[in-house]
Amino acid sequence: MESLDSIAGEIKKCTRCDLCLKRQNAVPGEGDPHSKIVIIGEGPGKNEDLQGRPFIGMSGKFLTKYLEKAGITREKVFITNAVKCRPPNNRKPKAEELDKCRPFLSRQLAAIKPTVILALGTSAASALGIKFKHLSEIKSRTIEIELEGRKFNCFVTFHPSFPMRFPRARDGFLKDIRSCINVYNNLSTT
Ligand code: URA
Repeated sequence: MESLDSIAGEIKKCTRCDLCLKRQNAVPGEGDPHSKIVIIGEGPGKNEDLQGRPFIGMSGKFLTKYLEKAGITREKVFITNAVKCRPPNNRKPKAEELDKCRPFLSRQLAAIKPTVILALGTSAASALGIKFKHLSEIKSRTIEIELEGRKFNCFVTFHPSFPMRFPRARDGFLKDIRSCINVYNNLSTT
């Protein structure tokens, strides 16, 4: 099985789409390579692009705080994104950018073999091949996905920028993270 480091090496040199043209750094992801929980966001923002690390800006601090409230530290999980290079002005990644970056995500998931994936928002869900019109159709439940012939359990919730902006969504966000951890705990003991 290939290592996360060798996949990260390829990501850092990738020129498969135009997002490479303006990047300072590609952001492959970080965390425990043996974690049974993988968290997937949308794409790097300005701080992430500058430092080459995922979720280190405002929404990252918010996510880290909510993971801790739910009883898990970010060092214990692996965190990555649907696209590994910053979309200009933090726009959503385009479908073709998600498509070009999906093989990296599939290979990272194949290497880690998580028990559960926490998908943060619509871009992460789309990157995992989940079909939907509105996030509400797929949010707060476990969905079985298949990527490159491998099956994974995926739990979908908001991108943290949403509850960060709208405090009324925060309880639901925390509940979702806790439910995802319960999915992991239940599957690990069966
Ligand atoms: N938002 C994301 O989706 N990912 C990051 O790494 C940072 C902000």
